[in-house]
Amino acid sequence: MASIQAGFDPFSVEYFDNPYDTYRHMRAEAAVYYSEKYDFYALTRHRDVAAAFKDHEAFSSASGTMLEEVLSGEKAQQSIISMDPPDHRRMRGLVNKVFTPRAIRAQETLVRNTVDRYLAAVDPRKFDVVAEFSALFPVEIITTMLGVPTENRQQIRLWLDTLLERQPGQMAMSEAGMDAALKTAMLYFNLIQERRAEPGDDMISGLIAADIERDDGITRLDDIEIAGFCTLLGGAGAETVTKLVGNAVVHFSRHPGQWRALRSDRSKIPAAIEEVLRYDPPVQYDVRCTRRDVTVGDTTIPAGKAVLLLIGSANRDEEAFPDADRFDIDRDRTVAQNLGFGYGVHSCLGAALARLESSIALDRLLDLMPEFDVDEHALRRVRMTSVAGYSHVPVQVTP
Ligand code: HEM
Repeated sequence: MASIQAGFDPFSVEYFDNPYDTYRHMRAEAAVYYSEKYDFYALTRHRDVAAAFKDHEAFSSASGTMLEEVLSGEKAQQSIISMDPPDHRRMRGLVNKVFTPRAIRAQETLVRNTVDRYLAAVDPRKFDVVAEFSALFPVEIITTMLGVPTENRQQIRLWLDTLLERQPGQMAMSEAGMDAALKTAMLYFNLIQERRAEPGDDMISGLIAADIERDDGITRLDDIEIAGFCTLLGGAGAETVTKLVGNAVVHFSRHPGQWRALRSDRSKIPAAIEEVLRYDPPVQYDVRCTRRDVTVGDTTIPAGKAVLLLIGSANRDEEAFPDADRFDIDRDRTVAQNLGFGYGVHSCLGAALARLESSIALDRLLDLMPEFDVDEHALRRVRMTSVAGYSHVPVQVTP
């Protein structure tokens, strides 16, 4: 097991700017990587990452989903994503009811209207796809579904950015991040009180009214549980689609032939989204904690260790996807599981909504910018924990 050669630091500028070269070295030299600096392990191969996602008994989510939570032993928040079965199964059963395929299809008009509203406001010749569009519309959709008043919706995104942001070398949340987390929780907490007094037809009211089975019988969710779920949805539902759309535009600008192919055959849009999700996934890693000693390859990871499941590396593993570093919307997607939405019990609850939002966004962008160039020098990447992508993607539409 090598740890130094590959030099993997998820809080370094090199990593923020381009994780894929590091991943390639890791898969070759240290497929099960140990970071002495932070005291975590990282799995890089597709088969190991997929197996760990499936084995929730050995690789537990219950210590938290951020590296700092697992390393410090202090879980910041209780929510579905940081539960193991059987608690997770019960909670997932409940929220699945709110996220049925039918419920998501019913959001199509909201999604179309929101996407159109933001695109109508940009200069159609020259605009920033992320800062002026993809950063703005997903949070608007999920917070509308939750029942957040209009004036607070974009604020939730700004707090979220602060909460996830990391300076090079900074693993834990900043003071400003903690303050933002607190303000977000308070906003939801107050909203829950209002909906308890006067229910509406939004998701918060639905969660208040839902029954959940527990060890001691059927009960309702308490305020902390509902606020935790809202915070998770507001986060997971916003940052990720923002980045998927930004990444898509960058990769299509580098593969204009595939953009043209998509324009002439829109039925390829779902495949295009899956390929962006494989090639450059917005969620680069999920964190687990080993509940017992686990042997992966020839390395034994002791119990109680933080383990990063490197989705971004697994999706570029040649053993799973032939010619994995090639962006190709026509590739055979049946050869291996795309891990971009996770895998196993925690696999993305919002995947159907994410696919709906991304496909409507891409469809509209194909109309708005049939031919375009990205100003590569002006591209800016975020410096955040767990997620990766661009904060600025300026495009010039070719007349
Ligand atoms: C491109 C967009 C998205 C990506 C790449 C993505 C990715 C992921 C991944 C990798 C996980 C697994 C986490 C783990 O195993 O620890 C996950 C879980 C989850 N996602 Fe998403 N997500 C996206 C969009 C959304 C949206 C739009 C929502 C909701 C509106 C959402 C809500 C959730 C929730 C609630 C979970 C936790 C599920 C559980 O613990 O059972 N996600 N997502």
